[in-house]
Amino acid sequence: MLSWDDDTPQATPTPASPAARQPAAPAQGTTAAPAPHYDNAAMAPAAASEPTAHAKPAATVAAPVSTSRVSAADKRIINGQTDVNQLVPFKYKWAWEKYLATCANHWMPQEVNMSRDIALWKNPNGLTEDERRIVKRNLGFFVTADSLAANNIVLGTYRHITAPECRQFLLRQAFEEAIHTHAYQYIVESLDLDESEIFNAYNEVPSIRAKDEFLIPFIDAIADPNFETGTPEADQTLLKSLIVFACLMEGLFFYVGFTQILALGRQNKMTGAAEQYMYILRDESMHCNFGIDLINTIKLENPHLWTSEFREEIRGLFRQAVELEYAYAEDTMPRGVLGLNAGMFKSYLRFIANRRCQQIGIEPLFAQEENPFPWMAEMIDLKKERNFFETRVIEYQTGGALNWE
Ligand SMILES: [Fe+2]
Ligand SMILES: [Fe+2]
Repeated sequence: MLSWDDDTPQATPTPASPAARQPAAPAQGTTAAPAPHYDNAAMAPAAASEPTAHAKPAATVAAPVSTSRVSAADKRIINGQTDVNQLVPFKYKWAWEKYLATCANHWMPQEVNMSRDIALWKNPNGLTEDERRIVKRNLGFFVTADSLAANNIVLGTYRHITAPECRQFLLRQAFEEAIHTHAYQYIVESLDLDESEIFNAYNEVPSIRAKDEFLIPFIDAIADPNFETGTPEADQTLLKSLIVFACLMEGLFFYVGFTQILALGRQNKMTGAAEQYMYILRDESMHCNFGIDLINTIKLENPHLWTSEFREEIRGLFRQAVELEYAYAEDTMPRGVLGLNAGMFKSYLRFIANRRCQQIGIEPLFAQEENPFPWMAEMIDLKKERNFFETRVIEYQTGGALNWE
């Protein structure tokens, strides 16, 4: 079910209904990251489109556009005019199936025993300085990255998506991002690391900050209260944001960090943290695959958005993301460690970027690259009952803990 080769949906191409919607109520305090991120003019949020002149009732809020019964054929991923509160009849069954699959993968950070990690971290001879650097840099990126991902869904993406099946997945995804932030916090707390150092790393560590500065304009563009879809420019802005988050944030920026911590786990070090990362990797793989299905369905429903200029712009963003992630790999690994070195990540990132291009129908960017870490695919296909690192795993149970007395 979870693999690099998840099928893309076979939606029927249909022209999008023209949509004009009222601007949403202004939001307060929604900024995704600290103000210094906006100092660089090149990173300023993209301009939002003008709201259309003849606004109809919004399809994305509580009041339905029409009181007639919903026909699945009329549903659209963006700019739909059907009632977003009526989950069925289903049109996008792939979204519903992924929602069910993510629920079946439910886990919580406290289920993983961290005692071996704590003992190893406290032992002065337990880890090398380079290994400790990897762990701290890793957490420094991830403790805030999943908050950015959650903000992007809740404050940005969600209100622009008019298919309730997809919204259902996004709601689950947002909760999983909260679980991931919880997991990273749980590791920081378990190891008794300096919380303010780790949580402020995205302001203090240039290789982390550079990745976030790349991402934040794509959150801000669609979280802007004045931003509405319904014009080709605005729809391309949304599509670009979806591509950046699914293919480059969840699909590329996470992979140096995941590989490093899982490589530690494969050497029987930091096995609790590695197990948490395995569950997160499985979730992120599903988020990435859902995002790719969403992108491909929007393309099918709105072929006019997929212009050659747009595709070139996306290719440029992919190239930029590979460079940023490679700089991060070099920063986290100034020397070879754990049998890994930055050069291997150059191949890996090119391999992944090519794969992401292929998944959304863009020409690969790099000459054929081999995957230097084939064992990562095995990790992505993790089954909950497997216990790679012999940590204690409690199978999640639903409905078993209620006590009415
Ligand atoms: Fe996440
Ligand atoms: Fe995610």
